[in-house]
Amino acid sequence: MDAYVSDLMSKMTVEEKIGQLNLPVAGFSMTGTKESKGVEEKIRAGQVGGIFGAYGPEKVRKIQEIAVNESRLKIPLIFGLDVIHGHRTIFPIPLGMSATWEPALLERASRIAATEASAEGLNWTFSPMVDIARDPRWGRISEGNGEDPYLGGVLGAAMVKGYQGDNLSANNTIMSCVKHYGMYGAGEAGREYNTVDMSRLSMYNYYLPPYKATVEAGTGSMMSSFNVVDGIPATGNRWLLTNVLRNEWKFNGFVVSDYTSVSEMVNHGMGDLQEVSALALRAGLDMDMVSEGLLITLKKSLDEGKVTQQEIDQACRRILEAKYKLGLFEDPFRYVSEDRAAKEIMTPENRQASREIAAHSFVLLKNDKQILPLQKKGTIALIGPFANNKRDMLGTWVIGGEWEKSVSVMEGVQAQAGANARITYAKGSNITEDKEFINRLNFFNQPMVTLDGRTPEAMIQEAVNTARNADVVVAVVGESQSMSGESSSRSNIDIPESQKNLLKALVKTGKPVVLVLFTGRPLTLTWEDANVSAILNVWAPGTEAGNAIADALFGAYNPSGKLTATFPRTVGQIPLYYNHLNTGRPWDGKESTKFKSNYLDESNDPLYPFGYGLSYTTFEYGDLQLSKTELTGAETLTATVKVTNTGKYDGEETVQLYIGDPAASVSRPVKELKGFQKIQLKAGESKDVSFSITPEQLSFYNSDLRYDWEAGEFNIYVGTNSRDVKAGKVNWKK
Ligand code: NOJ
Repeated sequence: MDAYVSDLMSKMTVEEKIGQLNLPVAGFSMTGTKESKGVEEKIRAGQVGGIFGAYGPEKVRKIQEIAVNESRLKIPLIFGLDVIHGHRTIFPIPLGMSATWEPALLERASRIAATEASAEGLNWTFSPMVDIARDPRWGRISEGNGEDPYLGGVLGAAMVKGYQGDNLSANNTIMSCVKHYGMYGAGEAGREYNTVDMSRLSMYNYYLPPYKATVEAGTGSMMSSFNVVDGIPATGNRWLLTNVLRNEWKFNGFVVSDYTSVSEMVNHGMGDLQEVSALALRAGLDMDMVSEGLLITLKKSLDEGKVTQQEIDQACRRILEAKYKLGLFEDPFRYVSEDRAAKEIMTPENRQASREIAAHSFVLLKNDKQILPLQKKGTIALIGPFANNKRDMLGTWVIGGEWEKSVSVMEGVQAQAGANARITYAKGSNITEDKEFINRLNFFNQPMVTLDGRTPEAMIQEAVNTARNADVVVAVVGESQSMSGESSSRSNIDIPESQKNLLKALVKTGKPVVLVLFTGRPLTLTWEDANVSAILNVWAPGTEAGNAIADALFGAYNPSGKLTATFPRTVGQIPLYYNHLNTGRPWDGKESTKFKSNYLDESNDPLYPFGYGLSYTTFEYGDLQLSKTELTGAETLTATVKVTNTGKYDGEETVQLYIGDPAASVSRPVKELKGFQKIQLKAGESKDVSFSITPEQLSFYNSDLRYDWEAGEFNIYVGTNSRDVKAGKVNWKK
């Protein structure tokens, strides 16, 4: 590779080298306010390194032909797209997939996504997003793996593996691009694109680990984020892009900016386009998405001594290396296959995988009197704006996904209900009645949320009549597709008012109400939790939504998902996360007391804690058995619990290991996830579940940012979620 790239670079002009650093957008995946112009001419002139937004064999072939036939050096282009949770076959949104706690499933989904995407000419995806998110107001919490650094790293690494496979140059593997480096999930007030300000200690211990884990998993590229880190935008931040990423973590791929994040540094107050572009290159950025700042200004900066030839060469080399690794120099059309596109996309197997993964992602939040699973008899009323709806099944970021091909809840339930059950339906309410909100949801003039012409009262009345004639009500409500995802922050995270009014009217009928919740984020469900009979959180399940939901509702699959982000009781508690510090005045968990760290008007507790999720069966945990309580140095501790399925159904349980370090040189979280195992237990069956603990799991970054463990006492917890645990203590000497 080195020799090949060096030889090629020896033939390149400075302008051609700078051209490789340019990534314009083609097609319709515009996620900013600037569009690329004159792309074809630029390709001919050697001013483009890659294209994002173009896919489909015919289209990609045409564009690649221009590059390899009509540009002087015939360098192939790299083709990228946001393939976030599936390409054509859509899987649950990432936050949903993370709730499976099954890395193998995320790897499988990413493998299928890569197979489908590569058949359509793509060889690069802007995924996974591994930003830690502690603020559900932030709409992009839907795109990541939740709030935990360890789980986030394990799942992110699994996705990288799924996309890239063992051989990046195979025609069905694609390069992953880990984003948004870094700390993008910590925008103040949960507002998109907002300021991030945190200590290095927090970065190293909580926010950086998932990026690091995906670098270790071999991601070929990273995306720099929009936000500032320590006052300097990530895209121009040398500490982040070079010191940490390359020098500490030994990353050897390339870094692309986020959409116009180079030119946005002008707004951040870092200088004019020439200055910010030079800053980005010097910081370690290799490719400029859409700004064209590097393309337009780098030659001038070179002439003026603001950047060096070596800096340009280095970035160019990294882009060419990526193309080499993808096998594009050998065959620029390797990823373009009409034949594969016809055979490997939306296959029954891919759809089946999507259905299974979706069922595993559902989180049962409440199930009073075992109302679920539903019996296949009597009258089941399906009510709500998502009950007979295909568009909202897919969730955010579905560029290649076609919602017309998704299975609605109605279709899925009807297909499984059998001859003895009658399914009735009423829409019951609009997704929202707020016209201003609807305008924002329907961005780019897409009719994503439409209004039923009837009055809210008339719709509710119809729903109430339908409910009265039923044995059980299944209310399918929540957030629509564009209520979460990029640029979809919300200051109020309730179920929209029109739907809440519907729920209240349904509960008033006295019929049991099962709430099937569509959502891209944790919502505030305090009223719902107190008033409905059951809540099954299905996120946005993807192409097979209705089938997977019916699988869970009727018990063909017993729900096993667990939350990876805390559900607060009220928006005022945010940020609320399980791995918080103790403070000097911790609350005792009972009642609000003056001069303790608590609220006057609300408990500190979440509604549903991290790691929480019920099953149709019940699991009982025996006491925690520790192999030793006194340890020295590199010994291994074994922590074991007996888990018994004490209910009527076979089921799966994710057993979680947490560790707390109550005395250290820096204040440490009350507990941190350090391991998990998802097990299957038949009704009545017991299993001993053991975790091996070594000093690695006790390690953290201290105030000198040195990674090590400190001798002393440790609390060991094993349980069904971050709150309900069995506890033990050990003393570990150096
Ligand atoms: C902006 C988003 O922040 C990023 O995640 C995405 O990959 C790019 N737009 C390209 O669509």
